[in-house]
Amino acid sequence: MGIENLKTILKNERNDISFEIKTPIISASGTYGYNTEFADFIDLNCFGAISTKGITLEKRPGNSGDRIFEVQNGMINRIGLENVGIDNFIKEKLPVLREKNIDFLLNIAGSTMEDYEKLATIANDNGIKALEVNVSCPNVKSGCLEFGLNPTSLFELVKKIRRSYNGFLIVKLSPNTSDIKPLATAVQSAGADCISAINTLRGLGVKIDFAGNKFIKKSVQGGLSGTCIKPVALFMVNQIKQVVDIPIIAMGGISKLSDLFEFIAVGADAFQIGTMNFIDPGICTNLALELSKFMDENGFKNFDELKGAIRNDQ
Ligand SMILES: Cc1cc2nc3c(=O)[nH]c(=O)nc-3n(C[C@H](O)[C@H](O)[C@H](O)COP(=O)(O)O)c2cc1C
Repeated sequence: MGIENLKTILKNERNDISFEIKTPIISASGTYGYNTEFADFIDLNCFGAISTKGITLEKRPGNSGDRIFEVQNGMINRIGLENVGIDNFIKEKLPVLREKNIDFLLNIAGSTMEDYEKLATIANDNGIKALEVNVSCPNVKSGCLEFGLNPTSLFELVKKIRRSYNGFLIVKLSPNTSDIKPLATAVQSAGADCISAINTLRGLGVKIDFAGNKFIKKSVQGGLSGTCIKPVALFMVNQIKQVVDIPIIAMGGISKLSDLFEFIAVGADAFQIGTMNFIDPGICTNLALELSKFMDENGFKNFDELKGAIRNDQ
């Protein structure tokens, strides 16, 4: 049996819209570029989709200086949303994704509500099937507090995007909050079709070396990701599942088959793999094959059956 048993339908019963993917394994935004980077050596057959690097209205060079800092069981990044900009994406990257028949989520980021609305309109006009909205961006009008941390502004943002975009709308939540439930509720009531979670956690990496007679200090502040954040991600997904009935795409430290089961148990309908791609670029393929084989060997005919068995056993 091939990977046909992994077919996944993310369905929002409320809007009667669904997004069908070959497998529930998606590469996470910022860790897979626009695919062109990996195309020569990774077979995408086992990927449900790739989530593109976050795209802004204008091209961005990203941050200068150190952008990646390795920590125990994870990494801190301050890439600063380096990306080609939406126009170049549409001109150069989209035709390649389409020609190669690669399913993808267009991940977008902005610093004003108008940015997001414009990006959503462009996505809509270009027939992009799925949009993933990164709301962990500083809102310049609200003192640079992340859009995603205030339920009222998050509701307003998602509502505006919903009006501009008719495809499958995924909102990616930030974990940098003391209570994610009102944020998840706001996203669902504003009309989103799916929630993805979690984005990176705020972190600070510090390295002190003693060089003979003085200390040399290096520090990087940015987004923490990797296996060290898995318990936070499990907690957040579990919280989200308690208040919404739209599908959830879970991520945060996924590195092995048992992680998939754990995330299913707390409410995941699909998964994204991020940081592990840097350690093993074959991880998405291998996890999909392992999951498919496990299901085959243990009599689970499809992914829904596996989800049901894991959740009912709780
Ligand atoms: C280098 C790097 C760049 C990232 N860039 C983005 C981005 O542009 N947009 C976004 O929504 N998330 C971005 N993320 C967050 C990941 O998509 C993911 O939410 C997070 O890393 C948690 O998953 P993981 O522990 O499997 O890496 C980035 C993460 C990393 C490590």
